[in-house]
Amino acid sequence: MTGDAMRDLEQWIPKLLAVWRQQRRGGRGGGGKHGRPSRHEPRAPQTQLTHDELKEVGAGVKALSHGLTRERALAGARYMDDPRLLGAYLLFYWPVSYAQARATLSELPSRPRATLDLGSGPGPLAFAALDAGASGVVAADRSKSALELAKALAMEAGEPLSTRDWAPERPLPEGRFDLITLGHVLNELYAGDLNRRAVLVEKLLERVNKGGTLLILEPALRETSRALLQVRDVLVSHGVAVRAPCLWRGACPALVRPSDWCHAEREWRLPPMVEAIGRAAGLRKETLKMSYLALAPRGEAWAEPPEGQVFRIVSEPLEGKGRQRFMGCGPSGRVGLAMQERHETERNRLFFKLQRGDVVRVTQPEERGDGLALADASTVAIVAHAGRPVPLR
Ligand SMILES: C[S@@+](CC[C@H](N)C(=O)[O-])C[C@H]1O[C@@H](n2cnc3c(N)ncnc32)[C@H](O)[C@@H]1O
Repeated sequence: MTGDAMRDLEQWIPKLLAVWRQQRRGGRGGGGKHGRPSRHEPRAPQTQLTHDELKEVGAGVKALSHGLTRERALAGARYMDDPRLLGAYLLFYWPVSYAQARATLSELPSRPRATLDLGSGPGPLAFAALDAGASGVVAADRSKSALELAKALAMEAGEPLSTRDWAPERPLPEGRFDLITLGHVLNELYAGDLNRRAVLVEKLLERVNKGGTLLILEPALRETSRALLQVRDVLVSHGVAVRAPCLWRGACPALVRPSDWCHAEREWRLPPMVEAIGRAAGLRKETLKMSYLALAPRGEAWAEPPEGQVFRIVSEPLEGKGRQRFMGCGPSGRVGLAMQERHETERNRLFFKLQRGDVVRVTQPEERGDGLALADASTVAIVAHAGRPVPLR
């Protein structure tokens, strides 16, 4: 995640807290369960939760985490209409989704302008798009309470955001868009029916302007990531081009073995408030992990991949005795890439510093078992760092 995006996120923290405290007091003036803070109470800190607040939010995040990741009982349920869970979402998952969106929007070839954020919740992707240069965003969701929070945030930040009531069986907000986002919502739709998800995505692609993008973010869990890859395969078989992360144009090779999946991971600096909530909820978010897919509108061809033997790194470093190994996925498919430490030279030592998501060019690899081995004569160059656009040919 870039330094600019990190600074933008840090500026959102006091706004999220202010809006959450307002909602918790029962609106603008107070009178809710927690009432207006009395003149004698100390002022709550602007970028951190008080002890009691932390306990409350931590419990909400724990419940959300169980419901959305482990048992998944909340997936597709109306958890955003429970003020306690919505508040927990706002203070913990909002910053995470915002950071994930910034870390993937930065990979697109052009800045978004008109944007539609579907299944927006309180709008982390909507505001990420605005901060990344969008001229205006429509945030759409079926949860009125979540949209109310998005509006309150827009007021607090002076951002141009409008909201719409939306559910997949209802008409889409009117107009065409340069960017449509679906953040952690596709996995909640149609009770797992992947074909219906693919039909929705194709319908959305018809609303994307030439040169624009449909960006889908999903949790990096095996189940949700594989479901996204299966939707990808349906779309690719219908001629849809993937902008990112795929360089491979065929059926996804990560689906061949049921234990495999493909996801992204990016470094970030956890805002202290989010870190404290994570600790209270027993969760760690040291890196950003997500699955994503950026799709081009109908009629646009796949971009020509950079010249040479090019791969996106799609695994963490798989260290072995005296050697480094990664999985790479490129125009020729998904292969293991390995190098013995003893073959390290000035021209290939970048191999030992690669990160998941980087796009690399290698020369003179040798075929070894089911992968490629680099040797003294090989060179390794980074074509695009993770989260940066792959240069067009
Ligand atoms: C996990 S939240 C994601 C919020 C935000 N986009 C993000 O990335 O953090 C899922 C959102 O999808 C919305 N959602 C789930 N099912 C929906 C449906 N059938 N129609 C409309 N919205 C739905 C929920 O209300 C919720 O706001």
